[in-house]
Amino acid sequence: MTKETIDAETILKRATPLAHQQAPEIQPFGHLVRMPIALSDNACKESVVNLNQLLADTITLRDLYKKHHWQVAGPTFYQLHLLFDKHYDEQNELVDAIAERIQLLGGVSIAMAHDVAEMTLIPRAPKGREEVPVQISRLLHGHEIVLKEARTMARLAAEGGDEGTNDLIVSDVIRRNELQVWFVAEHVVDSARKDP
Ligand SMILES: [Fe+2]
Repeated sequence: MTKETIDAETILKRATPLAHQQAPEIQPFGHLVRMPIALSDNACKESVVNLNQLLADTITLRDLYKKHHWQVAGPTFYQLHLLFDKHYDEQNELVDAIAERIQLLGGVSIAMAHDVAEMTLIPRAPKGREEVPVQISRLLHGHEIVLKEARTMARLAAEGGDEGTNDLIVSDVIRRNELQVWFVAEHVVDSARKDP
């Protein structure tokens, strides 16, 4: 029996990561695979489309919180700096829950910033810094867009028999957004104002 000798170059080739690989997508965006979860194709399709819109708006609202966390100014800097980051973290949890529900329904969740920018209904914020009441108005508008579409989507999911999506939207998205609206909106109440 002859002993095979392998030179160093051959050994190194085997240990080198095969980077820069390319292949066609395994699932194109907008197409669903069938998952064994006892839901009709139509129910899954409708929920995936709606959840992707909700995802785009939730990612945008989440990122708006981080922008304001960094750029806030004024006497309420510290409390708003902390509050905005707390809401960012909570929105980030919603982002993950929505995206994973899209996948478990057999869909493809949007993920990248350029796709989010194309889809979101929340108006684009400027690159520069804005004062606190404007930051808060912008956040409240974003929340209201999310809440309005979420209520419609929850109703449609329930009508289609997709109770899981209904529950996610009602129990997590709507309740969390409503609570955040309260915490943010109270900062722009001017209780000392004297009406003429
Ligand atoms: Fe930070």
